[in-house]
Amino acid sequence: MNRIFSGVQPTGNLHLGNYLGAIRNFVALQDDYDCVYCVVDMHAITQWQEPGELKAHTREVTAAYLAAGIDPKRCIIFNQSQVAAHAELAWIFNCVARLGWLNRMTQFKDKAGKHREAASAGLYVYPNLMAADILLYKATHVPVGEDQKQHLELTRDIAQKFNNDFGVELFPLTEPLIFGAATRVMSLRDGKNKMSKSDPSDASRINMTDDADAIAKKIRRATTDSELLPGPDILDENRRVPEAARAARPEAYNLLGIYAALSEKSVEAVLEEFAGAQFSRFKAALTELALAVLGPIGAEMRRLRDDPGAVDAVLRDGAERARAIAEPVLEEAYRAVGYLRP
Ligand code: TYM
Repeated sequence: MNRIFSGVQPTGNLHLGNYLGAIRNFVALQDDYDCVYCVVDMHAITQWQEPGELKAHTREVTAAYLAAGIDPKRCIIFNQSQVAAHAELAWIFNCVARLGWLNRMTQFKDKAGKHREAASAGLYVYPNLMAADILLYKATHVPVGEDQKQHLELTRDIAQKFNNDFGVELFPLTEPLIFGAATRVMSLRDGKNKMSKSDPSDASRINMTDDADAIAKKIRRATTDSELLPGPDILDENRRVPEAARAARPEAYNLLGIYAALSEKSVEAVLEEFAGAQFSRFKAALTELALAVLGPIGAEMRRLRDDPGAVDAVLRDGAERARAIAEPVLEEAYRAVGYLRP
């Protein structure tokens, strides 16, 4: 059976982009695939995390998985640091991946910014750990938002080089699954920037734990422009929003994309519904929709926050099942490399 692997970092402020770009798709895939969903706490510490908060954030991501509808019986849900094989395979991949490959990673450049010399070594080799996450489970498909595409290309390069170097057919060439109307949700304050956990402005994102008042206020205050909403005549021959149109009105198309994703309609259908409307009418409809979708998830996340024992039990059980898959694959990799094993 085809296997899915994906992960979310427990770095706080889980937001609508994480939900629409990733977590909601995780839920949809559990019917057709054998799914492994990880809370990637080892990735999180590539940038400073307060130890007490890291625990809370690890439980928060787990709660988001559960509240969104991932079934912990059918899927494996665990936190990465409970399965040592991730670190072990990552070391081998540190020796397979080339510096030139890592130098091309745009996310490292974005995250390290101007202070490259002060970035942790872990942040630099982060994509190798990500490849280890995926390949330990021989995952065939990885659902992610658009920003992770380059890391998945690197994962394929690592799998291919490992197989070639050691003359084995151990690792599959994993396919990304990037789908839905919101694969790249943008900031509510500035449609040219991605919605992100690390944006200092809380108004830039809708957090999965925001209550109804906060959601309504953030949508009401979201940046827009002074024109009326466009109609479906803007679409190109492939029924997509042309890049030039999006670049001219990034905030409008971002909100329309969010509406389409939340309502599970096509962007075309949403453009038909709101053609020529004022933002005030559209924002009222978007608020109602966001509350209907996110309200119950946020409420369940808040309930699980008060029941850490239940969340920890899910992670413990998941880790045990994850180890049962990962350890034999690590052993195969060790033997291929030529390590002397008992
Ligand atoms: P992370 O924690 O930054 O984000 C988790 C998921 O949310 C998606 N995402 C978005 N999608 C749409 N619009 C946005 N504004 C937005 N922001 C985030 C991300 O694409 C991601 O799917 N490196 C990964 C975690 C990871 C991983 C893995 C993923 C570690 N190992 C193995 C897949 C497979 C990351 O930092 O995600």
